[in-house]
Amino acid sequence: MDSKSKIDLQKLPRHIAVIMDGNGRWAKQMGKPRVFGHKNGVQSVREVSEACAELGVEYLTLYAFSTENWSRPAFEVNALMSLLVETVRKEVKTLMDNDIRLEAIGDIEKLPSKTQKALIEGMHTTKDNKRMTLVLALNYSARWEIRKAVQDLSTKVKLGELAAEEITDDMISAHLSTKRIPDPELLIRTSGEHRISNFLLWQIAYAELYFTDIFWPEFRKENLYQAILNYQNRERRFGKTSDQIVLK
Ligand code: IPE
Ligand code: IPE
Ligand code: MG
Repeated sequence: MDSKSKIDLQKLPRHIAVIMDGNGRWAKQMGKPRVFGHKNGVQSVREVSEACAELGVEYLTLYAFSTENWSRPAFEVNALMSLLVETVRKEVKTLMDNDIRLEAIGDIEKLPSKTQKALIEGMHTTKDNKRMTLVLALNYSARWEIRKAVQDLSTKVKLGELAAEEITDDMISAHLSTKRIPDPELLIRTSGEHRISNFLLWQIAYAELYFTDIFWPEFRKENLYQAILNYQNRERRFGKTSDQIVLK
């Protein structure tokens, strides 16, 4: 039996988030410039999006550019922004054919205007699609969105619209850029790095973390199936004991 057919479709994560990492190192080991790695990473994005949509995963969030990534050499940042515009434009048809809606999280307004334009167009064209939501995290920082939520809630308190002690977890979630998106149950990071790098800090409170040594440009459907199978073999206890979970 191949890995895909071993997946229990009744126990699929509704939302998978991915830290796509290792493009530069993959290119380097091939003796190519880092940007070659980014270009090849697009095929992995296609594969993973298609695999998630085929299985019935409802949300797929891809970490494509962090606020910290602006510190990379200008040449690489520009190449990433151009690749983004090119990819979003090119893939809109595939998104339409597969009934996938495009969304973005992060400080989008600070992206170059061309990138913003391509994104907004892509989101607008695909807005009524229903099968899956593909969320691109762009110019994203978890601390940025938590800080913004704190600022927004404090303003409401200051204006007397809300009492500080009335603030709930749900209210905080509703002030993040993921407000209409359920928390991910599974977070995957490629390339052998075992860190979160400022991604979805609030939302991954109870996510299962899966790390693989594979570099992002080599990540294929099969690797996603393996990650889901690994997730399905874990016991999610949410603070309870194993006995409580089994008895349920
Ligand atoms: C991930 O690959 C892509 C982005 C962060 C934009 P990297 O570019 O981080 O590749 P490595 O980690 O340097 O190999
Ligand atoms: C995280 O990867 C950001 C994205 C995948 C977009 P990085 O390569 O930027 O993370 P660090 O610097 O290794 O933590
Ligand atoms: Mg990296």
